[in-house]
Amino acid sequence: MIHLSQSRSSIIFEEGDETLSIVHWGKKIASLDGNSEKALSAAIHKPHFHGGLDVAPRNLVLREHSRGFIGHPSLRGHRAGIAASNRFHLKSATQKDQTLIAIFLDSIAELEIELTYSLTESDVLLIDGKVTNKGASDYFLEHFLYWLPLAEQADQVLDFYGHWTKERQPQRRDIAYGLTSREGFEGRSGHDYTITQIALNSSTNFRSGQAWSLAMAWSGNNIHHVERLIDGSKAIGAGEYLLPGEVILKAGESYIAPRAVASFSDTGLDGITANHYDWIRSRSNHITKVRPRPLTLNMWEAVYFNHSFEGIKKIVDKAAELGVERVVLDDGWFGSRRNDRLGLGDWVVSKDVWPDGLQPIIKYINDKGIEFGLWFEGEMVNADSDLYRAHPDWILQEPGRIPVEGRWQQVLDITKEGAYNHVLNQVDTVLTENNIAYIKWDHNRHLSDPISDGRPVVRKQTEALYRLFDELKRRHPGLEIESCASGGGRVDLGMIEHADRFWTSDQNDPLERQQIQRWSAMVIPPEFLGTHVGPTVGHQMHRTHDISFRALNALFGHAGIEWNVTEASDSEIAVLKSYIAFYKKHRALIHSGDVVRSDVIQGNAQMYGTVSKDKKQAVFTYMQLTSLDNFGPLVATFDGLDPHVTYRVSINEGISAPEFLQKAHPGWWPTVDLTGEQLANIGLQLPVMKPETGLIFEISAL
Ligand code: DGJ
Repeated sequence: MIHLSQSRSSIIFEEGDETLSIVHWGKKIASLDGNSEKALSAAIHKPHFHGGLDVAPRNLVLREHSRGFIGHPSLRGHRAGIAASNRFHLKSATQKDQTLIAIFLDSIAELEIELTYSLTESDVLLIDGKVTNKGASDYFLEHFLYWLPLAEQADQVLDFYGHWTKERQPQRRDIAYGLTSREGFEGRSGHDYTITQIALNSSTNFRSGQAWSLAMAWSGNNIHHVERLIDGSKAIGAGEYLLPGEVILKAGESYIAPRAVASFSDTGLDGITANHYDWIRSRSNHITKVRPRPLTLNMWEAVYFNHSFEGIKKIVDKAAELGVERVVLDDGWFGSRRNDRLGLGDWVVSKDVWPDGLQPIIKYINDKGIEFGLWFEGEMVNADSDLYRAHPDWILQEPGRIPVEGRWQQVLDITKEGAYNHVLNQVDTVLTENNIAYIKWDHNRHLSDPISDGRPVVRKQTEALYRLFDELKRRHPGLEIESCASGGGRVDLGMIEHADRFWTSDQNDPLERQQIQRWSAMVIPPEFLGTHVGPTVGHQMHRTHDISFRALNALFGHAGIEWNVTEASDSEIAVLKSYIAFYKKHRALIHSGDVVRSDVIQGNAQMYGTVSKDKKQAVFTYMQLTSLDNFGPLVATFDGLDPHVTYRVSINEGISAPEFLQKAHPGWWPTVDLTGEQLANIGLQLPVMKPETGLIFEISAL
């Protein structure tokens, strides 16, 4: 047997005569010797069913019908109608440290598959696959999925759905017979992308219980499945969704599948989150290793298309007074782009709005010690643009048919060298001529006809974008890129290797955003998740929220502002200053610590926080979303602290709720010293809160 293990999880493989199967994926198991391997192998050997074949397939790594397996196969493809059945033989299985490389050959279909499983120190299992055509004729690959077996205890599945302004909403359902499936064909991960899929026990919650997650690290089409078969077995699978004819392997060619990211936790959903954060943060180029995430003011909701030096200057003056560290000029600075029907594709500074170019405003911003960022949407083109007039042949389309428009735009076919170079060179020129630290890269429609010269190309288009980002970063060392797609339409574990920030959602309304932020952060660390304080009356929901509630809402991410702050009242300015000061003081903690989400306080209120790895510091927030049936007050407990340490807990009154529904505060207000044990098991009496208000607690070890 081959046993990969780390401190909290194990995956155990068994080599059969020709096959490789998975004996266990879950809680860490002590190391095995020869005898225990034999016993274990026998222990999990399935019986033969009446009515089935005379074999009892194990949890095969490559699920094949030719071996008696009855569910979804790992590989599907053919050679113009033949060689559609597979039986791979394991050629080699080599373990090095906590990595296994397995190579399989199907000598009849003339295919080789290489699978690599690496269990990282963070208990994140990375799976990579490669399918190679060893024959002389073309091989039409239809799909290649990674599958992992699920334990009996996994009886529910949690995944995420959503749309513009409501991304990553959780849905949790029982695992039924057949397939529970999420498939994405948007040509980008999309607002409705599940971000990860989690199998779990019905009793699993944030802080306890078992959970098994699997996600594609990919920004193109995707598949996430959970399958329960009538023999009782359950498995979780994921892969790239390939369109017909998208991958045709010529002799000797390989399909390199996008990576899958899996993880097991027996400490609830918070454990899955911690594993992902630890893995992402352990990468040598992780953004917080470069520098703290700058407090950002984005101009979109402040000015929309009304660009002017004087208008922006006034906002910048206020931003500087507040302590903003990065200002981003959004859509509207280029070509004929005076509204959203024109100009996409012409990445040249507009003389109409910026007659002296961008340099004067950038200098003005830089002179205040603030860095400058700029918006692009390089994969798109408006029909009314110089680019489209010159190259109508550069859009993705079925030959002879113009795709429906989305926000009056078409998708530029960057798999075409000319189109790719056009975007690369124009963006590169703007970046070379101006001092730009950061670009916000948008993508406002999905790919309805992802066809180039008659062939589907979602995969190639996705790879071209990754290449483009990498090349821009190579040419402009230190450049940061934000992945935006109509808000949070391209937030995924593939993009984290190429971008430095996600615009999590266009939704800045705190009531809505609390949910979006909570579940986006399931596997993406907060330092990636742009989260901004919006205007007094929100532009999406038109609800009015107090500045304190809007500020608290935007703290647990890469914080910023999406508002014309010259409109802020004096009291709003005071809270914004406290918000920014708090963010700067605690961002190192929020962007490195472990997430704690309360299982007790959820629903019409939420409580969550971040505890430093050494458990010496923590920040927690309590958000009262709606009113409580019992009129409050509640007692809040604080998990994740060291039970033996005494902490000082203080309310930050500069950003917490300004008003309460009570005659006097609870006895301890605003500071108290308690041990981690007392905080976790007895807790603190909360004040009686109005709906749509919140509190922030600063906690330090004494
Ligand atoms: C959609 C984005 O999500 C917004 O933040 C903004 O950049 C607009 N596009 C600009 O067109």
